[in-house]
Amino acid sequence: MKKILVTGGLGYIGSHTVVELQNSGFEVIIIDNLSNSSLNVLEGITSITKKPPVFERLDLRIKADVIDFFQRHENIAGVIHFAASKAVGESVAQPLYYYENNISTLIYLLQECKAHSINNFIFSSSCTVYGEPDSLPITEEAPVKKATSPYGNTKQISEEILEDTCSVHPQFRCIALRYFNPIGAHDSAMIGELPVGVPQNLVPFITQTAAGVRKELAIFGNDYNTSDGSCIRDYIHVVDLAKAHVVALERLLKKANASNFEIFNVGTGKGTSVLEIVEAFEAVSELKLPYRIVERRPGDVVSVYADTTKANEILEWKAERSLKDALSSAWKWEQHIRNL
Ligand code: NAD
Ligand code: WQD
Repeated sequence: MKKILVTGGLGYIGSHTVVELQNSGFEVIIIDNLSNSSLNVLEGITSITKKPPVFERLDLRIKADVIDFFQRHENIAGVIHFAASKAVGESVAQPLYYYENNISTLIYLLQECKAHSINNFIFSSSCTVYGEPDSLPITEEAPVKKATSPYGNTKQISEEILEDTCSVHPQFRCIALRYFNPIGAHDSAMIGELPVGVPQNLVPFITQTAAGVRKELAIFGNDYNTSDGSCIRDYIHVVDLAKAHVVALERLLKKANASNFEIFNVGTGKGTSVLEIVEAFEAVSELKLPYRIVERRPGDVVSVYADTTKANEILEWKAERSLKDALSSAWKWEQHIRNL
């Protein structure tokens, strides 16, 4: 059994990926500092896979602890690095915290990978690196635009750090996955998204509104140049996204990669508007969602969705779950955590 380190493995995408890794026969070690997750997630993962993953509560910003961790754990075959802070607005208010938490942690990990000859590395990047695209759907060749937030900048800088590292260490192999908008939860409703405070993202806000935790959804603008005036995104089921990590990891472990730094878009290839999401949610939940149209949210791009040809053809991965599957799993999860 190959041993894989998953940083941020108790977080939203990390926990779903741990499940898919365990189900694919990998042994998983999780590092998480619980800054945006809880120990209950470990129970959720275990209830699904029946195999408790090894867990270490560790803060990757503490370099000495990272060094110590790799001294104690031998034979790690690969690393999937999710741990980071991800709130765009918070990153504007606290840039130094974001640069430290998202960049220094990557550097410490890469230094230890080098020291211990761990040569397979998957990185969580984001479609945010594209900014407002010049054409749609977006391919991996689209230019990386100047970031509009410190968070987005940390993803751009991280990709550069990885590319520079790969260029001088030919034995080191990295895949950066640029996620579009992950939504939904595991079908079992044992794990899902756990936003702290008021959700900033659309789908958790919708499910909390439906659960009665929020009064109404504010839709940020209906006067964009789109079919119905609301913004368009590529919403991908988190389980499909998790599976993409397993495929990417297997590619590296087999040394099947075409170059030692590869980038893949991970989305569905389909754009959906905010109003279409509301409509689809109402259909799956059989509820009427209270909402009102408000001002545009500053910094929102109008329309983004992925060209997934590269991932489809090279990784032989394709998003399989529908938007309805994703929304009904999100709603099932919200009902589970609210005891509804
Ligand atoms: P999340 O906040 O749910 O998970 C991140 C996990 O990392 C959390 O459990 C947190 O406690 C942990 N963590 C943070 N800093 C740490 C540190 N210094 N040491 C140890 N653990 C630490 O976020 P997520 O949605 O699962 O995102 C995972 C990754 O994917 C992040 O890198 C994020 O930037 C990226 N990403 C997310 C999205 C999205 O919409 N969710 C989109 C694109 C990219
Ligand atoms: C989706 C759409 C909003 C909330 C963010 C980050 C991005 C990436 C994914 C990490 C937009 C609208 C939202 C609400 C609304 N994360 N909306 N009312 O902005 O595409 O991306 O998460 O890398 O970097 O910026 O996702 O879920 O916030 O918004 O109308 O209460 O829903 O305007 O059109 P976004 P989102």
